[in-house]
Amino acid sequence: MKHAKALRSLAWTSLTAALTLQANAEPVSYDAIAPLLAERCVMCHSGPSAAAGLRLDTLEGLLAGSAKGPVVRQGDPATSELLRRLNGSSQPRMPMTGPPFLSDAEVALFESWIAGGLKAGSAAPSPPPVASRPAAGEPVTFAHVAPLFARHCARCHTDNGQMGTAPEGYRLTSHAATLSADERARVVPGHPEASELLRRIKGQAKPRMPYDGPPYLSVEDIDLIESWIVQGARDASGLPAPVPAGAKVRLHGVMGTDGRIDGLDPGNLAAARRDKLPRPGDYVRLDGRLDGQGQVITERLRRR
Ligand code: HEC
Ligand code: HEC
Repeated sequence: MKHAKALRSLAWTSLTAALTLQANAEPVSYDAIAPLLAERCVMCHSGPSAAAGLRLDTLEGLLAGSAKGPVVRQGDPATSELLRRLNGSSQPRMPMTGPPFLSDAEVALFESWIAGGLKAGSAAPSPPPVASRPAAGEPVTFAHVAPLFARHCARCHTDNGQMGTAPEGYRLTSHAATLSADERARVVPGHPEASELLRRIKGQAKPRMPYDGPPYLSVEDIDLIESWIVQGARDASGLPAPVPAGAKVRLHGVMGTDGRIDGLDPGNLAAARRDKLPRPGDYVRLDGRLDGQGQVITERLRRR
């Protein structure tokens, strides 16, 4: 297994080296850019809801262009929207999940391909990555859920995204950004009920995410994200994230007859401000802080 991996990375290194050499000599074919498209672009640019109507999982899709028209002009990289998005002369820069963006050498491959006449090559279509499921007994890590965030959320929750700056300043482009509690925590490791992100994708908190849904996430995808949070919101290497003790939270949900908000115990409310006295059945907003264990200490509870 380890051996196969090493072999693969060796093959990859010599492949990219060969391609860089080729870029200097004769124009590259689609084969040279297909792996980059598969790795960095098709999670958003494929399927019926492909970003900008542009499908990058096949050569045909790329040549067909976006809802606005062609994105490559044979022999003319400088006016090709695809290249302009890669080098940032047209905004938002691609890939939308960047930084990191493509390296200069990688952008040069696209330039060579366009300048050299869009040669077809023999590359098979690149299927979009699907969220991989952990094997039985294996923990859920960020590597399993990252494709879901990239595909369904990052087009808005990024700098220079579909809505300009990231909504609520919340970026969903990396593990660190997703877990960031600088402003407030939206994911509380080990505590799904205290995680506004989960409430938003379930529709307990409104507006439900993705903001432009339906479609919303499938039950299976929501379950996967919930398990990821329950198991400590691990990073891609499997390391659980610490609870951001003291961080603020802002949660939304419906108060049940048991006084809980969709399963969340709001704790001792004697010390908290209760504006407009919420009652069972009310949709409420809770502002609070996390203790060292990730329990919510309610500071304010209001009916919305
Ligand atoms: C996280 C999702 C995401 C990823 C990843 C992504 N894109 Fe995009 N892309 C978008 C969205 C959303 C738009 C529309 C944004 C706009 O133009 O306002 C877009 C627009 C574009 C456009 C402009 C289409 C037009 O005609 O206006 C091009 C070209 C493009 N992307 C190429 C790429 C390439 C090449 C990659 C990979 C290197 C990539 N994208 C990766 C989401 C993504
Ligand atoms: C079309 C743009 C768009 C997409 C796609 C989108 N969001 Fe949002 N998101 C927003 C907007 C706008 C808000 C602020 C809405 C409000 O609360 O009034 C928001 C708010 C949020 C919040 C609340 C942040 C906070 O500080 O309380 C969370 C969490 C969130 N989104 C998660 C997600 C997730 C997870 C996805 C993908 C499954 C997603 N969003 C997809 C636009 C988007």
